[in-house]
Amino acid sequence: MSNKSPERGSEDIEEYRAPEVTEPENEVVSFSELVGQTHAAAKLDPTAEPVLTVENLRMYFPVLSSGLIRRRIGDVQAVDGISFQVPKGGSLGLVGESGCGKSTTGRLITRLYKPTGGSMMFQDVDLAQLSNRELKPHRRNVQMIFQDPYTSLNPRQTVGSIVGAPMQVHNILPRDQIKARVQELLEVVGLSPEHYNRYPNEFSGGQRQRIGIARALTLNPSLLVADEPVSALDVSIQAQVVNLLQDIQNEFGVAFLFIAHDLAVVRHFCPEIAVMYLGKIVEIGDRDSIYSNAHHPYTQALLSAVPDIKQAVTGERRERIMLTGDVPSPIDPPSGCRFRTRCPIAQEICARHEPPLLQIGKRHKVACHFPGRLGEHPREPITARLLGVDTEGQPDPGSSPATDLVEQPGYADTWFDLDSKSIGRA
Ligand SMILES: Nc1ncnc2c1ncn2[C@@H]1O[C@H](COP(=O)(O)OP(=O)(O)OP(=O)(O)O)[C@@H](O)[C@H]1O
Ligand code: SF4
Ligand SMILES: [Mg+2]
Repeated sequence: MSNKSPERGSEDIEEYRAPEVTEPENEVVSFSELVGQTHAAAKLDPTAEPVLTVENLRMYFPVLSSGLIRRRIGDVQAVDGISFQVPKGGSLGLVGESGCGKSTTGRLITRLYKPTGGSMMFQDVDLAQLSNRELKPHRRNVQMIFQDPYTSLNPRQTVGSIVGAPMQVHNILPRDQIKARVQELLEVVGLSPEHYNRYPNEFSGGQRQRIGIARALTLNPSLLVADEPVSALDVSIQAQVVNLLQDIQNEFGVAFLFIAHDLAVVRHFCPEIAVMYLGKIVEIGDRDSIYSNAHHPYTQALLSAVPDIKQAVTGERRERIMLTGDVPSPIDPPSGCRFRTRCPIAQEICARHEPPLLQIGKRHKVACHFPGRLGEHPREPITARLLGVDTEGQPDPGSSPATDLVEQPGYADTWFDLDSKSIGRA
């Protein structure tokens, strides 16, 4: 992780030149093999301060009735009370099936949407509360890289105007200096200054994504939200673009919220990962906790579906865990645990109580009444005493429920140790 100050200038950019783009014709090896040839997986800096702290973030989209008078008849609970931190100069990965709320989370943080509730603290400012006018000076600090390099660039604008436009809008450089700065940025992302007057349709997918990355870097952001930045690309190009993002992070100390459904890509780029299901975070932790020690049945099912990952992690072949049933509608999610309709180990309590996101290790939290390694889930809910209920989730008048189960961003110094069933610490 870079120790550089977040204040960066064009001098920094001049120092760094990415290699020219080469796009192999055939893909023959996996992403992990390709990316590992030149770049080691990104490392966690446990001492890094958070650049972004998100708490109880919610986004409900109204569902309106049809007809002339359109009444609000419900809500799509796209994001429903999530909390996490992104470390300065580091990366948090956000994974989960289609529709679980990843993009909505990214769009909230870049304030393309105004949240229904919750806070998003960035440099002592709550981005969730700001009006559009108040947001303008902060927008440059948080930028977005989009998934689709074919639709995210205006085909009628030259590369020069696409990358240079944010500098004009934010008025950060005199007009006559913008071209030189854009050309520097093109070199930073592995393109050539001569590409300045070309149009997006003259470039391949990987090159277009590099243009999108140059545009996102234009304002020297401290945080980049990358929403599936490589999923539209061939695997060999994916490795090149991920390497580029890693070089940029090391050089400029920019933090990433890295959204992807590809677990191999996330494992390489992100030392910390949050797993989402139906608008909630169900498990969050450092790379080892998630990839080698997952305790949530949903995370275990996701990992079991990726041959590349399961062999690397377990060193042996493990059968894929097939989840039955469809993902329920976020308009009317199941009671209690949202995963219960597809969970292979669900019990009574799961329908009655939502499991709290409980810290079970130094950097590991899980939201499940029966958390455990695959095949080692406890028979009795570990949460019953904390919630003041019996093993089926019925009120237990003799018990005293814990009062501090509210989901917090970040990690505490103490946690619930699953072996001793008591509070532990490092
Ligand atoms: N503008 C909107 N209006 C209404 N519902 C929306 C809107 N945007 C997203 N949704 C719904 O919110 C839920 C979360 O969508 P989101 O795009 O965040 O998921 P995702 O995890 O990014 O999925 P994918 O992996 O397919 O990109 C989905 O049910 C989606 O249909
Ligand atoms: S709380 Fe229950 S339904 Fe939810 S993941 Fe855990 S065991 Fe499955
Ligand atoms: Mg998405």
